[in-house]
Amino acid sequence: MEPSFFSLDEARQLLRAPLTALRHELHAHPERSGQEVETTRRLRALLSQPPFELLPLPVETGLVARIRGNGPGKRVAIRADMDALPVQEWAGNLLQSQVPGVMHACGHDMHMSFAYGAGLLLGRHRDSFPGEVLLIFQPAEETGEGAQRMVDAGVFERYPVDYIVGGHVKPELPEGQISVRTGPVMAALDGIRIDILGKGGHGACPHACRDPIVAASAVVLALQTVVSRTTEPSKTCVLSICCIHGGETDNVIPDRVVLEGTLRTVDREQRIACIDRLRTIAVSTAAAMGCEANVLIHRGMPLVVNDEGTTEICRARATALLGADQVTVLPVDTVSEDFSVFAQQVPGCFIHVGTRAPGTDFYPLHSDRFCPSDELLPLGAAIYAEMAMGLLHEREERR
Ligand code: NI
Repeated sequence: MEPSFFSLDEARQLLRAPLTALRHELHAHPERSGQEVETTRRLRALLSQPPFELLPLPVETGLVARIRGNGPGKRVAIRADMDALPVQEWAGNLLQSQVPGVMHACGHDMHMSFAYGAGLLLGRHRDSFPGEVLLIFQPAEETGEGAQRMVDAGVFERYPVDYIVGGHVKPELPEGQISVRTGPVMAALDGIRIDILGKGGHGACPHACRDPIVAASAVVLALQTVVSRTTEPSKTCVLSICCIHGGETDNVIPDRVVLEGTLRTVDREQRIACIDRLRTIAVSTAAAMGCEANVLIHRGMPLVVNDEGTTEICRARATALLGADQVTVLPVDTVSEDFSVFAQQVPGCFIHVGTRAPGTDFYPLHSDRFCPSDELLPLGAAIYAEMAMGLLHEREERR
């Protein structure tokens, strides 16, 4: 196997101090989706000096920077997301958010540090690669809007790229392990809203009403068959009803019950089949109970699909950098990611970076206790830089 372009030793020596400082600053000052003003300001300050060059883009939050190599060649984008969540950080974490009720509970502070660190590493070796690397920092990943905002602002028209890479920290995976998967990586998300309309009245006189609460209950249970009876057992699929709203008091049957939930699918046919079936079940079950169901599907995020050729190169680079025993392939993730919006336009590879330290308790993403170790920062940066370098050096004939 070809040797790696970078080494973890070099990454640790060069990056441990600056990335730890940046990550601590970002972690202390989290901002919610679409409000990443200070985060943008901090990153702009860092990326307005060599080896970086800030590139103009008409967005309120988010930014793009470039590192040029030694001449013309391929262009590779490294993407990081910037937003935090409305979560109150657990007081026992090693790092502490200074903003009440807002926390980097999804590790986007890590992602920004990885991307910045990758830029520093690449910048140090800019004489040894052709082409250029773009760092894309996008806002509002959690709401599924940010990537689209960058695309709408013309990021790829102004700054076309041949490939895009990105990743997410993954607490289910041991610290320092990487998952590189070809094809579907993270599920498509559709939001579901079902309004069950009946006829309200006195709780003691149900015969004079059409009870939407009983109908909604039957609909929720019947919807459980969408996954178990519609989709191929070997394919990942999730349908969860997460909200039920209806009624005000204990003796009035309401007119309406609203159900809300989420559908996660891993291919187009499965998605269409599930939406079709859930509509039929909601409408028919409600009708059987004398009620009416209005079903609204809100398209959230498309499926993240890793391009085969791009992913092959990235896996080879990850293996060269970390060793084969540290590179694995996780099943498709039922969580969604708007990296998909970029990957629909440009061949992409999205990886997972394990964060679970040995002997520590498991806390999932979005938990108020999720706080990966700083030790991972140089590794994450090195893997991003290594993937970018592999793609920059890709031979023409492979395309
Ligand atoms: Ni996230």
